[in-house]
Amino acid sequence: MNNIMQNIETSKLKTHWCGKLSEKDINTRVNLAGWVSNVRDLGGIIFVELRDRSGIIQIVADPIKNTDIHKIFQQLKSEYVINISGILSQRPADTFNPNLTTGAIEIYPDKTVILSESETPPFIIEDDQEVNEDLRLKYRYLDLRRPKVLNNLLLRHKITTNIRNYMNTNEFIEVETPILIKTTPEGARDYLVPSRVQPNKFYALPQSPQIFKQLLMVGGIERYYQIAKCFRDEDLRADRQPEFTQVDIEMSFVDQEDIISVTEGLVVESFKAAGIEVQAPFTRLTHKEAMENYGSDKPDTRFDLKLFDLSDIMGKSSFEAFADQVKQGGAVRAICVQGIAGYSRKDMDDIRNLAVSFGAKGLAWITYGLDGTIKSPILKFINDEESAAIQKRANANPGDVVFLVADRNKIVFDVLGRLRLHFGEKLSLIDESKHNLLWVMDFPMFEKDEQANRFVAVHHPFTSPNPEDIDSLESDPGNCRALAYDIIYNGTELGGGSIRIHNSELQKKVFGLMGMSDEETQEKFGFMINSFKYGTPPHGGIALGLDRLVAMLAKSSSIREVIAFPKNSQAKCLMTEAPASASDDQLQELYLKLIEIKKK
Ligand code: AMO
Ligand code: AMP
Repeated sequence: MNNIMQNIETSKLKTHWCGKLSEKDINTRVNLAGWVSNVRDLGGIIFVELRDRSGIIQIVADPIKNTDIHKIFQQLKSEYVINISGILSQRPADTFNPNLTTGAIEIYPDKTVILSESETPPFIIEDDQEVNEDLRLKYRYLDLRRPKVLNNLLLRHKITTNIRNYMNTNEFIEVETPILIKTTPEGARDYLVPSRVQPNKFYALPQSPQIFKQLLMVGGIERYYQIAKCFRDEDLRADRQPEFTQVDIEMSFVDQEDIISVTEGLVVESFKAAGIEVQAPFTRLTHKEAMENYGSDKPDTRFDLKLFDLSDIMGKSSFEAFADQVKQGGAVRAICVQGIAGYSRKDMDDIRNLAVSFGAKGLAWITYGLDGTIKSPILKFINDEESAAIQKRANANPGDVVFLVADRNKIVFDVLGRLRLHFGEKLSLIDESKHNLLWVMDFPMFEKDEQANRFVAVHHPFTSPNPEDIDSLESDPGNCRALAYDIIYNGTELGGGSIRIHNSELQKKVFGLMGMSDEETQEKFGFMINSFKYGTPPHGGIALGLDRLVAMLAKSSSIREVIAFPKNSQAKCLMTEAPASASDDQLQELYLKLIEIKKK
């Protein structure tokens, strides 16, 4: 390296960014450093595209004008790291490159130094190359050189900058919370870390800073935020990673409206970083409205295709499969899809199979032919009056198909909600230009875990019941609403939060309703319940998924695209090959013994 430094007479290796040079800089001496993106040897003159973080500039070597430089250029290959110095000049007009922001300028360097050579990379470092994702992740450091991935990281940086500025201006302070902790009740599986110092004991990695941010409120911090790493061992999807980042917020002396208003301001500022103007206040739906209209607690409202209830009509019909569901407290609900009456029998079977894969027992349909005929596998069970009532409720016209599902409400909503999204995409009903931000409010406090036959918290167990429902907390927990809210962007859950319980007695009661004994409560969360005995401010908060926010603003289909070093869908880092085996010594120090896994 010293050698290289001495070869450069100018004091700086790099005086300018390649992509930021413009015609204004013509006749200036510039020292540039970066990667060789492309070499074109036209048998005499050699053209090289030099790339750095900011973009690309053309550098040229002419064998007649400068033999020495030309000799060095002859050695250059893709991804070599070089340093050049020269005077910036105008390109001849007939050689302008309209695809480059620096397409009208170039440099004939009078100095060129190779700083580092490169082997042939496993893929070409350009955006429009189709590269297998596993290969990209294995060589993520090369993938990061591609403008698209780089731009995603730049956008992420801009968004977090705007978030920090906004929070700081609003008198929040950023506090770091621990990573080696006891456990958080977010409902996913914990990552465990064995302790060497305390044999046979384990730390958990935080699923969120939830407990600590509440303890910060007891500690008098009043307005906390953190761009926090969270860890959840759950099944991965395009919008889920085992480690991800939250914009985590907690405030004292507030109600729902305060938190909503702070969050809306934050979202507006985040969107600005991506050049998108959105207007607060955002739309609000109750959880009930969201489920009944869209079959989802994260409704995509960019298209209509709403669900409707046919329980009153079908509950009295002679179709027992339907009438029974209604009698047992379930429902018959439907969607009306326009213009697909021409679908073949096979198309319909495929849709039924899709519904069954979503959990439906079956899928019934009524087809309204363009010729005025009505066809349906359940037509024999419904009389003319019922048929007319359904058509009216569905607002069905010739060409339309109504799909019906009868089951417990949870299943009916889920199946129809997912069918709705299926048709939204398949029939291109979604207006991609929309930025639909909305709140889903009034979540139920508990949800029945049918298998375990007990209630579990819909949000988390520190969420406050709605004061209006507190009296029925014990008599009718299933119908008790929580002071919880989610923020939804184009059908994706960006974040969620709640007003918390700040009274140790109520907190104990809620744990009790979830089937936790006093001992268990004390063992798991005793420190927290105890803290509430020493003067606890009313408080509440929210957490936004930063990766999801950035991915959506970057129009990326997966959050992996906006994380520098993501894991793949098997929670593996293909670059470092984590998780990896531990040595016998390490295991012994941790008092761990491995058991052999029998291959299935
Ligand atoms: P919640 O569990 O709803 O709330 O998480 C908040 C937001 O975090 C994002 N998120 C994820 N992003 C990527 N990968 C994951 N595996 C993942 N899991 C969650 C989502 C989600 O909306 N402590 C509470 C917040 C509070 O009550 O203040 C919490 O963590 O965008
Ligand atoms: P069956 O009499 O069981 O053959 O059902 C008649 C039609 O109703 C078929 O098209 C089934 O797919 C449909 N079906 C049966 N059960 C349900 C259900 N729970 N929800 C919706 N459709 C159903």
